[in-house]
Amino acid sequence: MKSLKAGLAVAIGIVVFNWSSALAQGSGSVFESSSTCKECHEDIYRNWRNSLHALAFTNPIFQTAYNKAYRETKGEARKYCLGCHAPTVRITGDYDAELPITAEGVTCDFCHTVTGIDLESPGSPFVSSPGDVKRSVLKQAESPHHKTEYSSDFASSKLCAGCHSFKNRHGVAVGDTYNEWKNSEFAKEGKQCQDCHMQQIAGRTAIEGGRDKIHDHSLSHNLASMREAVKLKFVKAKSTGSRFSAQVEIHNAKAGHNIPTGTPERHLVLEIQTKDRGGSVIETQKRVYHKSIVNSKGAEIFSDGDVFLHGVQIVEDNRLRPGEKRLEKFVFSKRVREISSVSADIYFLYEPLVAQKTEMRIPFFSADVFVK
Ligand code: HEC
Ligand code: HEC
Ligand code: HEC
Ligand code: HEC
Ligand code: HEC
Repeated sequence: MKSLKAGLAVAIGIVVFNWSSALAQGSGSVFESSSTCKECHEDIYRNWRNSLHALAFTNPIFQTAYNKAYRETKGEARKYCLGCHAPTVRITGDYDAELPITAEGVTCDFCHTVTGIDLESPGSPFVSSPGDVKRSVLKQAESPHHKTEYSSDFASSKLCAGCHSFKNRHGVAVGDTYNEWKNSEFAKEGKQCQDCHMQQIAGRTAIEGGRDKIHDHSLSHNLASMREAVKLKFVKAKSTGSRFSAQVEIHNAKAGHNIPTGTPERHLVLEIQTKDRGGSVIETQKRVYHKSIVNSKGAEIFSDGDVFLHGVQIVEDNRLRPGEKRLEKFVFSKRVREISSVSADIYFLYEPLVAQKTEMRIPFFSADVFVK
């Protein structure tokens, strides 16, 4: 998904944010730039650089939504959106995004100078102490550039919760990944966000004096892991008289939270098609898994930015809970005698608002059964 988004950014070719003007402002920030960390933490930097964390502020999907929210609220949205998409502003107060560090999005020095997390304080969950001490999970780490400190928070979902669970100003849980996880078996077993999203991979923790394994900072979810996340099985496929029925079991097997999780613009689609002997489609049916949020007039909101501002109620949520297996039944009535096979496809459908509405389909599971 990450690479698709990067591809989209190139294809659309709009650069809403002007890097060069920000860079001309000079630093003046209490946070250090990722380009400083890069000098020694080259592998981690390269790994992080194309992540959605690094792009959280500059990516065109965010920028489009942000500019709209900004206009609608006469600038008030700055205080709200940037707290997560460019979290250094929480300390620097750079809500006009003039400092280069702001454009670094969820940057190294923001995370690694967190000294405490207070989830009871939703507007300001992070206790930040930017400066000389960099914290994480290494014991006895020694650096020529900074002091180090071990902190168990870095191995805990709590660190992620500050941004990955949020209510909007109407109290609606727009994104609730952390709580979905917290109520799951994964949480009971002690499996944290990092255990799935920041696994250890080959690389040097630092050019000099480092170790051989790094935690993956890219947040990549490649197709292989997504394919494993949702499993699908045909339970039944047969015709009775003028009807053909198919039953499939869809299983959220590997995600530590609902699928889809996060902002409500993400839809998971299960598509079942009957086909004739020649492979041509006779009939198509779909189930869409998503969380549906409406505005005060009861109309469903489809864009991520709007949902943050105008969502007042969750009216439907049929997403697959962690570990859930659900039996879905489909009945077909068209040209039943000619049905030769049924196919099942699952894909993510995501329609972000960028310049014009763009559709992204990310297929990740496909199966066929022959019935004759
Ligand atoms: C001059 C080289 C250098 C620079 C610049 C540098 N570091 Fe380090 N850092 C190191 C070394 C060496 C280690 C120890 C690595 C090890 O023990 O595996 C380290 C360790 C760390 C750790 C582990 C702390 C722990 O106890 O778990 C963090 C976090 C860290 N650095 C963050 C940063 C950040 C953020 C920046 C940029 C603001 C940065 N570093 C800049 C050399 C550097
Ligand atoms: C300071 C806020 C912040 C913190 C802390 C944070 N994230 Fe994020 N994360 C974001 C934002 C904002 C995005 C979305 C960026 C975008 O797409 O514009 C994001 C995106 C992601 C994505 C990619 C989602 C996708 O659509 O592909 C994953 C996975 C993720 N974060 C996991 C984590 C994990 C795991 C942690 C804890 C170790 C964490 N995040 C901590 C703010 C944060
Ligand atoms: C047991 C493994 C596991 C755990 C634990 C886990 N995740 Fe995930 N996560 C996945 C898988 C697999 C996917 C891919 C399926 C998907 O995209 O929904 C995913 C997807 C995501 C996405 C992207 C959603 C999208 O539609 O692009 C985000 C954001 C995310 N996880 C954040 C988190 C956070 C935050 C936590 C901790 C509170 C966490 N995850 C815990 C396995 C896990
Ligand atoms: C979203 C917060 C976040 C951001 C942004 C982030 N890190 Fe980390 N970093 C972590 C977490 C969490 C761990 C520990 C992961 C674990 O224990 O599973 C970690 C581990 C590390 C370590 C210890 C070695 C290792 O791989 O375990 C170093 C060094 C480090 N990060 C440097 C950096 C640098 C440099 C950047 C920017 C290029 C960066 N980090 C960006 C959260 C972050
Ligand atoms: C509490 C933290 C938080 C706040 C506040 C927040 N976001 Fe986000 N936003 C996230 C996270 C985390 C993600 C990505 C993962 C997910 O979907 O949960 C995200 C994803 C998005 C996306 C999808 C980006 C993509 O690359 O697909 C858009 C657009 C977006 N946010 C816009 C906004 C706007 C506009 C505001 C302010 C009105 C805002 N956000 C406020 C945390 C936040």
